[in-house]
Amino acid sequence: MTEVIDRTELREVTGPVFGLPHLLRLRRDPLGHAHWLNETYGSVVRLKVLGTEMHMTTGPAAAEALFVNREKVFASGPAWSHFIGPFFNRGLMLLDFDEHLHHRRIMQQAFSNEALHRYHAMLVPHIREGIAGWGEVEKPRLHRMFKELTLDLALETFVGVELDRAQQKRINSAFIDAVRSGTSIIRKPVPGGGWARGLAARKVLEEFFYGALPAKRRDGGDDLFAQLCVAKSEDGDEFSDTDIVNHMIFLLMAAHDTTTITMTSMAHQLARHPDWQQRCREESIAAGDLDYDGGLGLTTLDRVMKESLRLCAPVPSIPRIATRDTSIDGYFIPSGAMVSVSPYQNHFLPEIWPNPEAFDPDRFAEDRHEDKVHRLAFEPFGGGVHKCIGMYFAGMQVRAIFHELLRSYQWSVPAGYEMPLDMVALPVPRDGLPVTLERL
Ligand code: HEM
Repeated sequence: MTEVIDRTELREVTGPVFGLPHLLRLRRDPLGHAHWLNETYGSVVRLKVLGTEMHMTTGPAAAEALFVNREKVFASGPAWSHFIGPFFNRGLMLLDFDEHLHHRRIMQQAFSNEALHRYHAMLVPHIREGIAGWGEVEKPRLHRMFKELTLDLALETFVGVELDRAQQKRINSAFIDAVRSGTSIIRKPVPGGGWARGLAARKVLEEFFYGALPAKRRDGGDDLFAQLCVAKSEDGDEFSDTDIVNHMIFLLMAAHDTTTITMTSMAHQLARHPDWQQRCREESIAAGDLDYDGGLGLTTLDRVMKESLRLCAPVPSIPRIATRDTSIDGYFIPSGAMVSVSPYQNHFLPEIWPNPEAFDPDRFAEDRHEDKVHRLAFEPFGGGVHKCIGMYFAGMQVRAIFHELLRSYQWSVPAGYEMPLDMVALPVPRDGLPVTLERL
């Protein structure tokens, strides 16, 4: 039954007129700015940023309303389409309600426990090969190195197609253009502009995946592309060719920057906290070579990953669109409103995370479990029906990479170094995270 909205019982959402000073402050001090908005206007604030009106929420209760979405009021597709446009058309996150569930049930098969074991086995030799030369890199910048490594690994484990160097370069740069285009300021296909480049890149990716599909369907394999070809829901539903192409392009995007940012944040924290780096190293050296299940036992590394995800949520803000009038936290939300949850900001709420600025991986230890204070206290992977389907894949890949890295290298940053974050789209270091990297 549809909820009846009585506006007299609800507060109106308000907010500042958002001009250049706010934008500059938001860029300079996103947390301070969010805190001020919350203190001044309450847990839902209306803001107009770069022409888009947004109802920004604070706190896990609002996150629950949006993510759990009991009344099926909030749609993900039209909200995300606004930002990532036509480049990631009909990816899983851009589908809604029954259609989304139908696709998610099929895709789930490609993320089963057995599939994860196989991805892990494929990844490890490529990780070792990928980081073998890192000791010789002049002026190493870890963010860039993780980005390149993640792309190379994706070609192996996601795509699983033998490509020569020129083809690899073409696919990689098409992929990078498609990802970048979502943040173009001019959101029209003006020749030479980012949006037009994104559309051209989408075409390159579509042609590539359609071209590779018949052989993939015929020959199979352990990679994600092959798994999507054979994935079947419990009811026996499968993906069409078009579905597979759309999902592959989206999955590459969903996995890439998020995983890179997580590793960058971990490397940054471990460089600033050499005692934790050493604890993780000792754990990895004691564990030796590991399979997928063994990796799950790296509990110190797991806490470091969670704490790094808390301090730097790779998807800082998650939008939805209200499909009819509704309410959140006692505020009236009109039909058509864009509403967002900010994991980045929620992960610093002092009522949930004591001393929120401190790097303290033991918050996630059994005897503290600050992440369990509310089911959506810790939300780097979102929540509800759209919760990240690649969450276990991401954990597996990040652990596997750090397990190898920690046993081969040590890295540091100068005392007092703070990673300067560019928060325009996703949080990435403006300086690429320069480190001193030494082979052990
Ligand atoms: C640490 C790395 C990652 C983070 C922080 C992350 C974060 C997220 C978040 C916040 C969402 C929810 C978005 C929403 O509710 O609108 C999401 C959805 C999704 N992620 Fe991830 N992700 C990561 C890695 C991956 C990987 C490795 C894959 C694939 C292999 C992946 C595939 C997806 C897909 C397909 C969705 C859409 C799910 C749906 O709509 O049902 N992600 N991710």
